[in-house]
Amino acid sequence: MRSRAVLAVIVIGVLLTSVVAAMAAEQPKVPAIPGITAEDTHPNGCTDCHRKVSPDKDYSLPTEIANMVKAGTHPKVSERMMKDLPKQCLTCHKPDSKHPFAQVMHKAHLTGGAENHFISNYQGQCMNCHQLDPKTGSISVKGL
Ligand code: HEC
Ligand code: HEC
Ligand code: HEC
Repeated sequence: MRSRAVLAVIVIGVLLTSVVAAMAAEQPKVPAIPGITAEDTHPNGCTDCHRKVSPDKDYSLPTEIANMVKAGTHPKVSERMMKDLPKQCLTCHKPDSKHPFAQVMHKAHLTGGAENHFISNYQGQCMNCHQLDPKTGSISVKGL
């Protein structure tokens, strides 16, 4: 009797598992892409993330530059060139320059795997910076 009961439990368990698996398979998983399939929580791109959130958490672009200057990875930039951001970054980071903006931005945000906070906190989503014009299909960078 006891082994029959155990068998029944196993059979029911297997049946339930396959029903649950079938239900999961039926619901297609739609990826949450900002502005495409999900709300765009950073419609202004750079400056929606790069701002001063508290006195000790300043992620603003001038501070990011200052931090890189301190680390010796970025030349000093005059205040005059830190006004209309991110547009002014292109003064030095033109597409045909030695350090094109696309390359420095993609490297800063998309390399290093889980260690990179843009990947771990923002799923490394391109559309945090880029935006799609659904009418023309063209993709641009927010704020540039
Ligand atoms: C959705 C949020 C988000 C957006 C949008 C975003 N960033 Fe970032 N950015 C981050 C995070 C997070 C990091 C830290 C990455 C890491 O852990 O190394 C970062 C790092 C940086 C750094 C530091 C690089 C270094 O080597 O120290 C700079 C500069 C920067 N971002 C500029 C920009 C600019 C310019 C734009 C727009 C073109 C932009 N970011 C858009 C979140 C964002
Ligand atoms: C006055 C010119 C100038 C301006 C303005 C400028 N940059 Fe740069 N940037 C450079 C140069 C030159 C390098 C290469 C430094 C090197 O490799 O030693 C660089 C490198 C970088 C890097 C890569 C650093 C690394 O660790 O590899 C990032 C990120 C960056 N710039 C972001 C920005 C952002 C964001 C802005 C606008 C807020 C900006 N830069 C404005 C000249 C400039
Ligand atoms: C942190 C912001 C940021 C993120 C994230 C980002 N991009 Fe970009 N992307 C830029 C910027 C800035 C440019 C340069 C625009 C310019 O020079 O006018 C650019 C340019 C480009 C270009 C054209 C220039 C080139 O490199 O050939 C392509 C293609 C591109 N991005 C693809 C992607 C894809 C794919 C992803 C996601 C895997 C992505 N980007 C994520 C900021 C970003």
